[in-house]
Amino acid sequence: MEYRHLGRTGIKVSALSLGSWITFHGQVGVDGAVEAMGAAYEAGVNFFDNAESYAGGKSEEVMGAALKKLGWRRSSYLVSTKVYWGLYSGVNEKNTLNRKRIFDAINGSLKRLDLEFVDLFLCHRPDPETPVEETVWAMHNVIEQGKAIYWGTSEWSAGEIVAAIEIAERHHLHKPVTEQTQYNLLVRQRFEEEYARLFRDYGYGATIFSPLASGLLSGKYSNGIPASSRGSLEGLDWLRDRFTDQAAIDKVKKLSGLAADLGATTAQVALAWCLKNPNVSTVITGASRVGQVRENMKAMDVVEKLTPGAMERIAEIFS
Ligand SMILES: NC(=O)c1ccc[n+]([C@@H]2O[C@H](COP(=O)([O-])OP(=O)(O)OC[C@H]3O[C@@H](n4cnc5c(N)ncnc54)[C@H](OP(=O)(O)O)[C@@H]3O)[C@@H](O)[C@H]2O)c1
Repeated sequence: MEYRHLGRTGIKVSALSLGSWITFHGQVGVDGAVEAMGAAYEAGVNFFDNAESYAGGKSEEVMGAALKKLGWRRSSYLVSTKVYWGLYSGVNEKNTLNRKRIFDAINGSLKRLDLEFVDLFLCHRPDPETPVEETVWAMHNVIEQGKAIYWGTSEWSAGEIVAAIEIAERHHLHKPVTEQTQYNLLVRQRFEEEYARLFRDYGYGATIFSPLASGLLSGKYSNGIPASSRGSLEGLDWLRDRFTDQAAIDKVKKLSGLAADLGATTAQVALAWCLKNPNVSTVITGASRVGQVRENMKAMDVVEKLTPGAMERIAEIFS
């Protein structure tokens, strides 16, 4: 495993990490989480991603129970969680980053995770209705209370992130240190273009999500939607359209040909392509079964197979 600094912080995250969206509680219970997290940790993963909103808080409960069973030293791993959507529909309880909600959210997450602190606390989306100054102060206070070590953003615009950094600098507050955004062979514009100045000017970190575009880049949807895949789950209709997008499937089929030439799986090549980008701090993988964790962790070995020639072929396929 390779370890990379999370932006300009002193903390190092494993280049591959594991998240729990859709999978924990939705597809695997505590035993499955123990198995997946155990396999990842064994491969060198030290960062596990979660959010208050995943499975209505149940994903945090599953991860907390799994961590209890695994019994690792707290200093040997990092956990993140996120605030924004909330668990209730009251006027101040959803879709907000107001000060009260942020304090309420971190307390609830720590309870469900059964942890004293999280390592990374993220604002899951921007909140245009709350002054960014209020959010920055509240996140700073959460850190000062010892409930989080670092904080960051998820799917904020570059302008919103710069505004938050500048407010923090002006008041000598803890700055946001990393963005969590989607980045994969099919979704690149925001990461590569809009965020370029964040990486260059601020050394902002990036914990990237959906590196396989929810599984599409593993090649599993190239001949229809398999049973017991994310594409077959109830309530994810918005994702299903992507799994049947013929233009994307045609590209993935070509990627599978290239992967076969390299002696790797399609998923490993797609993950290794993300790892090649030096602005990526960690690639957050997802897995509904432990075999996927094992396969995906081997993407580390595929990075060196992505020679300039192979990268050019990939660029042509996804141009
Ligand atoms: N901040 C945010 O807004 C945000 C948004 C989304 C995700 N995230 C984080 O990022 C993490 C990763 O995102 P993601 O789950 O969308 O990642 P992904 O890698 O794009 O998709 C993971 C899914 O693809 C399938 N898969 C994984 N490896 C495979 C393999 N080798 N072969 C075949 N299928 C494979 C599995 O689904 P099936 O087996 O069920 O098909 C797995 O659950 C999440 O868990 C979450 O922590 C954050």
